[in-house]
Amino acid sequence: MRNHNRYSAISIINHWLTALLVVVMLALGFAAGAAPSEEVEIYIIGVHISLGFFVLIFVAWRILFRLYEGFPDNIGKTALERRTAYWVHRAILVLLALQIVTGPLYLFTENECMGVFGWFSVCIPLESLSFIHEPMEWLHLNVGIYLLPALLVLHFLGTIRHYATTEKQQAPSDL
Ligand code: HEM
Ligand code: HEM
Repeated sequence: MRNHNRYSAISIINHWLTALLVVVMLALGFAAGAAPSEEVEIYIIGVHISLGFFVLIFVAWRILFRLYEGFPDNIGKTALERRTAYWVHRAILVLLALQIVTGPLYLFTENECMGVFGWFSVCIPLESLSFIHEPMEWLHLNVGIYLLPALLVLHFLGTIRHYATTEKQQAPSDL
């Protein structure tokens, strides 16, 4: 792991593209949960899964790149702020990794494929692991509905605090 004080250009692109994709994935997940009929819910989850294929590839690349590049030192006036940022950033990436693993596993363990906008589908028959089907669903739903949104709210509040209290030219790391 390399150590450095600023986010690289690739990191900045990765951060904002992930933010966009994940917010859309959450919106689709919530829209499916609130769908007025089963047909609408199935349709929205279909879009969630299709986009999920690309989110899976991108998030995996982004996490591997972060592991390769390392995290810059966190900014914050107090040790508590820096410590919170340290753990929140790592926790967000761990939860994203969980989502891109549990989503497909939930499908594959009941012998369903990941259809991608009707263009192609990815099928890995894992019915032999059907005992993990429900735990995967439980994890995916609880991380997606409660844990990840809660951490993102915390992250958002932290960044507002960061932008509001840091002089631009003094910031050792920024996005
Ligand atoms: C308006 C929305 C957002 C703003 C203003 C924002 C801003 C920032 C800033 C300033 C940092 C660097 C802080 C530091 O190193 O101490 C950061 C890091 C990070 N943010 Fe965000 N962020 C936003 C949304 C998101 C979203 C939606 C996600 C996840 C889906 C996310 C995931 C991360 C992660 C994982 C890091 C750690 C460094 C990295 O690997 O990129 N952020 N963000
Ligand atoms: C960052 C990535 C992801 C996020 C944030 C996310 C979030 C969510 C959320 C919030 C729901 C809840 C829907 C509800 O309210 O009932 C959900 C459901 C679901 N997601 Fe994801 N998801 C992600 C990635 C994926 C991927 C890659 C797949 C690939 C197959 C996937 C497949 C599913 C499926 C099949 C459901 C429905 C589960 C059920 O019917 O019980 N998700 N997701």
